[in-house]
Parts: sequence; C-alpha cells; structure tokens
Amino acid sequence: MNVEIFVANESHAKYAQEIVDLIYESAQVRGTGIAKRTPEYVAEKINSGKAVVALDGDKIVGFSYIETWGHNKFVANSGLIIHPDYRNQGLAKKVKEKIFGLSRKLYPSAKIFSITTGLAVMKMNTELGFKPVPFSELTDDKEFWKGCRGCRNFDILERNNYKMCLCTGLLFDPEKEETIQKPSTFAKKLVKPVIKKKVPKKIYKK
Ligand SMILES: CC(C)(COP(=O)(O)OP(=O)(O)OC[C@H]1O[C@@H](n2cnc3c(N)ncnc32)[C@H](O)[C@@H]1OP(=O)(O)O)[C@@H](O)C(=O)NCCC(=O)NCCS
Repeated sequence: MNVEIFVANESHAKYAQEIVDLIYESAQVRGTGIAKRTPEYVAEKINSGKAVVALDGDKIVGFSYIETWGHNKFVANSGLIIHPDYRNQGLAKKVKEKIFGLSRKLYPSAKIFSITTGLAVMKMNTELGFKPVPFSELTDDKEFWKGCRGCRNFDILERNNYKMCLCTGLLFDPEKEETIQKPSTFAKKLVKPVIKKKVPKKIYKK
C-alpha cells in the first residue's frame, strides 16, 4: 500500500462517481441515513479545491470535503470515507488532519464543527481540539440541518426543534483552541505521575 493524500484539484474530478458510491455503500452497511450527495456536488468540491483525496496509485481510497455555513462563519468537514480495504491503518486520521488544515487555511476565523454518532470521528476530532457542544452552539443555517433529512433519526431532530438528536455536536473554536489539543492537566498526571520531591528542611543557623 502506497497511499498519498492530496488537496484535490480538477484532475481528481473523475473520481466523483466512485466517491459517491463508496459513501452510499458504507451507509448501507452501517444502516444509517446520510446526507445525499450527487457526483456533480462532489466534483464541484473537488474542482474548487475544497476537498482532500487519498490515492493508492490511480485508485481512490479516501475522501473528505469542506462545506461552509452561515456566511462562512461555520465550516464542516463532511463526507469522510475510507475504502473498506484500507481501513484501520490510520488513513482516516491523515485525511482528517489534511482537511482540517485546509479548512483552517481557507477559513481561518471560522468555527469548524461536525455532528456524528461515530466513535472514530469523535476520537479524531477530539485529538484535533474539538469539544462536545449542544446543537445551540452550531450553525443555525437551515440548509445545513436540511442535510439531516436523509437520516433515519430525522423525526427525533424535528420533534426536538432542531435542538437535540442522537448525534453529538463537536466544535473547534479558533478563538478558544489551539490547533492540536494539548493534553489536559489531568491527562498529563495520568501519563506522568507527579513525583513530589522531598524538600530538605531548612536548617537555620543559630
Ligand atoms: C470511519 C472511518 C472513516 C475510519 O477510517 P479508518 O481509516 O479505518 O480510521 P483510522 O484507522 O484512521 O482510525 C482513526 C481512529 O478511529 C478509530 N476507529 C476506526 N474505525 C472505528 C470504528 N469502526 N469504531 C470505533 N473506532 C474506530 C481507530 O481506532 C482510531 O482511533 P485511535 O487513534 O484511538 O487508535 C471508516 O471506517 C469509514 O470510511 N467508514 C464509513 C464511513 C463513515 O462512517 N464515515 C464517518 C461519517 S461521520
């Protein structure tokens, strides 16, 4: 396996249909609903340099793209997919890092967010500095939430006035966070136990 990850350009638009198929097939296997993406939509993301592709030679094996909401105040990294034969080797992590870096470069003041039920995405985003938040902290752009219509849990979201659902909201706020999360003080203590040095008692000369 010799996989390389690129910011997409027009030469990668030929993979649009294959990417849509990969996303669809994976959703079928997981039994989850997904936001509908057409090959034209994916190609537009690729052509405008708002996507990342992972290629093994000429074979598309990974993908993710950027969406903007609320007049570019919010960015979502969407459509993350890794070819089934290439999973569990750290590839999604690399694609995520690349698309996150691209989002920061293109939209440095935007908040980056995602909603997910997936442990893998929760783990990867947490490492990048995302924090769990209620939906009230995410974009109120109706177009974004329309994307949830393809999800089997949409009735739950609607019933709760778009304020809560089964997904966890994750948010990276550039004003509050560093790019890569530094371990919390608590985590540091777990890794490196604090060894209290014995401080010699001061000997006072009379
Ligand atoms: C989810 C997906 C992108 C992961 O790709 P991958 O290349 O296998 O992931 P990686 O090997 O980079 O693993 C990244 C982290 O997620 C964890 N992870 C990967 N797949 C996981 C799974 N199915 N369940 C739980 N954790 C998982 C890994 O253990 C790793 O965590 P670590 O850093 O603590 O070791 C891939 O399985 C996929 O394309 N699934 C279908 C589409 C999908 O679910 N997309 C996400 C939409 S929200």
